[in-house]
Amino acid sequence: MLDLTALSVPIVGAPMAGGPSTPALTAAVSAAGGFGILAGAYLSPDQLREQIAAVRDRTDAPFGVNLFVPEEIPFDAAAFDAYREALLSLAARYGAELPEHVDYSDDRFDAKVGVLLDEGVAAVSFTFGVPEPAVFATFTERAVATIATVTGPLEAEIAVAAGATALCAQGVEAGGHRGTFHISNDDREIGVLDLIGQVTGLDVPVIGAGGVGGRDDVAAMLDAGAIAAQAGTAFLRTPEAGTRQAHRDALTDPRFTETATTRAYSGRLARGLVNDFIRDFTEAAPPVYPQINTLTGPLRKAAAHDPQVINLWAGTGWRGARETGAADVVAALDPR
Ligand SMILES: Cc1cc2nc3c(=O)[nH]c(=O)nc-3n(C[C@H](O)[C@H](O)[C@H](O)COP(=O)(O)O)c2cc1C
Repeated sequence: MLDLTALSVPIVGAPMAGGPSTPALTAAVSAAGGFGILAGAYLSPDQLREQIAAVRDRTDAPFGVNLFVPEEIPFDAAAFDAYREALLSLAARYGAELPEHVDYSDDRFDAKVGVLLDEGVAAVSFTFGVPEPAVFATFTERAVATIATVTGPLEAEIAVAAGATALCAQGVEAGGHRGTFHISNDDREIGVLDLIGQVTGLDVPVIGAGGVGGRDDVAAMLDAGAIAAQAGTAFLRTPEAGTRQAHRDALTDPRFTETATTRAYSGRLARGLVNDFIRDFTEAAPPVYPQINTLTGPLRKAAAHDPQVINLWAGTGWRGARETGAADVVAALDPR
């Protein structure tokens, strides 16, 4: 099984679903001595298989794949309808049609687990919860490392008891979605360094995540007991990433001065640069996932060039994100 404690550079390239994650980015991070993780969420099982092949076309280095673990909770139709109503005038301005009904989707989790078992990638990472112990056991039998994303100590205990062979301790500083197991949990907002300290006693290696803008942030995570740092935002401006132009530009635009967490885009908490959409809709957004994500999709598509509308996922270290190749970013973050 892959030994995550033996990476030549202690940098994990975060999975970044929804565009930024590409086979080129994953391959570049792994080839540079870090460990790239491809985002498997929102892809069909066939697309996932193609992307895995595309990473392998570029490098022989080991890499991982990340999946969103589904959690079906009772659908709050009234909250969904009220939020849809709140978004209608903005959607009309961009000519976007918002769906009236959205069916629950599990993002084809079981089929994608099947693809990963077939393909035998080096590691599988999970966020938004953990799968059944039998899923961990099957990967472990096949010598596939399993990394569970956790945002608190109780989640870490649950993940290790279920069979995870490593943890990704995701602090509140992290860009993109928080990996909190339950959609509507109140956010305890634990910072990454505290969280690493709280979960290192469980006998599995811990990767820290959240807020990496430079090598000092990585060094602090290693000092706190992590074996590597998982960085996402730091790679958003690399040519290998699939980040949309408006998102790239916003990362250096002085109009954006802070990040915040919001449910406004997807119904789940996620951190991004504060724009008009976050300011206007955070209060109204209900914890209804993935239906709110699907609801806002047509608006985000129609307004793809407008940074005041689209999700500008970014962690608190966003000012450190540089426009340079992914291998350069890996080298620049290496504190050793
Ligand atoms: C654009 C973006 C998309 C993300 N998508 C995913 C994802 O698909 N799966 C996942 O486990 N984490 C995802 N994350 C969170 C990262 O795994 C990681 O926790 C985070 O990037 C670390 O914080 P940083 O961005 O400050 O480095 C995403 C982060 C960003 C910035």
